[in-house]
Amino acid sequence: MQAMVSTQNDGALLSGRVAFVTGAARGIGLAVSQAFLEHGASVAMADVQAESVRASAEGLAGEFGDRTLALALDVTDEAATEQAADAAVERFGKVDVAVPNAGVLLLRHSVDIELDDWRRVIEINLTGAFITARVLARRMATLGGGGRIVFTSSLFGLRGGRENAAYSASKFGMVGLAQSMAAELAADGILVNCVCPGQMDTDMIRQLFRDRAAIRGIPESEVRGALESRIPAGHLGPLSQLAGTYVYLASSLCDYVTGQAITVDGGWQVG
Ligand SMILES: NC(=O)c1ccc[n+]([C@@H]2O[C@H](COP(=O)([O-])OP(=O)(O)OC[C@H]3O[C@@H](n4cnc5c(N)ncnc54)[C@H](O)[C@@H]3O)[C@@H](O)[C@H]2O)c1
Repeated sequence: MQAMVSTQNDGALLSGRVAFVTGAARGIGLAVSQAFLEHGASVAMADVQAESVRASAEGLAGEFGDRTLALALDVTDEAATEQAADAAVERFGKVDVAVPNAGVLLLRHSVDIELDDWRRVIEINLTGAFITARVLARRMATLGGGGRIVFTSSLFGLRGGRENAAYSASKFGMVGLAQSMAAELAADGILVNCVCPGQMDTDMIRQLFRDRAAIRGIPESEVRGALESRIPAGHLGPLSQLAGTYVYLASSLCDYVTGQAITVDGGWQVG
């Protein structure tokens, strides 16, 4: 079946579309929410940090009016996700783009990871994304207008790395989940893809610098410098550049793209 997400034809790429973005209080989720709004969508912004996501949505509401909705949500809670999805549909009439993006980082050698920490990373990054995707997919299928699911995986969803076992396993799992859902949901006009960011300039990456510096007993600046020197583009990724890939995957520009993992990494993978 042809992808069927409807648009109002006023020139904006996402005009008339309604998105549900998790982990939207800050970082990549906030940048994606802003880019979607700039391209004409309405956005339900969900995050476990209730105050923070409310403040972020209010900040955007100044420019984008009533096209934002803040939702307090722990993505590991399926019943709460059902309620949040209902609230978005009640407010905007539908949801046709889901961005399971909420995630946490754990830097630990595989032999040293506490099992509780392993489970927390898998539970938030993989199970939480699965819950968001299927709760929204059910609504898209019921509403019958097709849709888009754009997961935030990672470059570590395509390759492993030192001190990255739990995080990398969760992000590899997401790529397999996206491929499976893409095959299943194409008949409903729902396209499912992953964005795999390299090293983006967010709080999460600054935490990585701190943690890795502590593990290796070297200054944070040395960790950052070593990492940036491995990126052919020479610097961490700007969030505005990353967000454009989500806009593309949510738009009619890619009606024949599904089951893909698209890397946005300044050339890191090939450099
Ligand atoms: N920053 C990078 O370089 C990078 C690279 C590749 C992938 N990613 C992925 O992008 C996503 C966003 O990363 P970021 O850099 O913006 O991180 P961030 O830490 O700045 O933001 C993550 C957001 O997720 C929210 N969150 C965490 N647990 C949650 C839960 N259980 N329920 C709901 N919300 C929850 C946090 O409150 C936070 O607002 C993550 O999935 C991350 O793994 C980031």
